[in-house]
Amino acid sequence: MTKPALKIEKATSSRIGEVDFDNLQFGRLFGDHMFHMEYRDGAWGEPEVKPFGPIEITPAMNVMHYGQAVFEGMKAFYVDENTVNIFRPKMHFERFNRSCRRMCVPETDYETFITALEELIRLDKQWIPKKSGTAMYIRPVIYASDNYLAARVSGVYSYYIITSPVGAYYAEGFNPVSLTTPDGFVRAVKGGTGEAKTAGNYAASFLPAKKAQEEGYTQVLWLDAIEKKYIEEVGTMNIHFLMGDTLVTPQLTGSVLAGVTRNSVTQLAKDWGIKVEERRITIDEVFESAENGTLTEVFGSGTAAVISPVGSIQHNGKTIHIGDGKIGAFAEKLFDTITGIQYGKLDDPHGWVHSVSV
Ligand code: COI
Repeated sequence: MTKPALKIEKATSSRIGEVDFDNLQFGRLFGDHMFHMEYRDGAWGEPEVKPFGPIEITPAMNVMHYGQAVFEGMKAFYVDENTVNIFRPKMHFERFNRSCRRMCVPETDYETFITALEELIRLDKQWIPKKSGTAMYIRPVIYASDNYLAARVSGVYSYYIITSPVGAYYAEGFNPVSLTTPDGFVRAVKGGTGEAKTAGNYAASFLPAKKAQEEGYTQVLWLDAIEKKYIEEVGTMNIHFLMGDTLVTPQLTGSVLAGVTRNSVTQLAKDWGIKVEERRITIDEVFESAENGTLTEVFGSGTAAVISPVGSIQHNGKTIHIGDGKIGAFAEKLFDTITGIQYGKLDDPHGWVHSVSV
């Protein structure tokens, strides 16, 4: 791999004093540096790392009108004074480029991506929280930054990578979240943008999520948009069901985001000799399984959420309760193993971790 030359401008002062490492919220504070690269005239320009700060835009900027934007969410973990682990950067990068293709955003190269991550981690290593359950969240984003109002593919793009020290994503922490199927809303349909990590998917989910929260639920459990019976995902995470001795995970149908943690969960379950089925699963099957006692655990998986136990699901006026208000043993083993690999405390048989010497 030839390392691209990054232009580096170091911050002259640090905002690290603003960080309360004992009370980290998700994505509120940002590291001192950010990566930046511009695309115009058919090519990406010079990559640079510079102090994090405001960007100048005009109200005519394309992305603000038509939403041509893709992003990623990944994490880096403190191992020791000399080492930081990035979790599965290649898989995140590949999904980033798939999202770019779907959204007509120019693709980028892995060498620039990984070099930028390594540089940001080295420069802002003091920002990486050390406590268990915390991490440095990494958010790459590319958006259309041309200034015109015609609804067509932009010719200019801005690419940034920012970082943020984070704790748990859900206020529930490790306590089970409650889900509800949406009333009259759909998230995505095959052929649409559901499997891309693009801004509009999230904007479209805010109203149903807000309604769910007003009714006392943590999040929406999305069903397929055509028959409204097959379970897809939660919007901020993928979902898994432990039924008897089988781990059932909704298959990737073209409208579900291919989660990196989702993939880690199914791989670990296979490693442990658990029967893993990636298939279509209806909400009725889940309710029947709860009623006949074979549904033992339900949990979400995602970079931000890691493993998040689900305590109840509401659908059509009926609610099932799963478990005893605590995380299930299988979800806990997954959490311990994934975070153990991430923090460099457990073997990494699949080579998921990219270690950076800091
Ligand atoms: C992630 O899990 O990293 C995500 O991007 C979800 C986001 C909505 C916080």
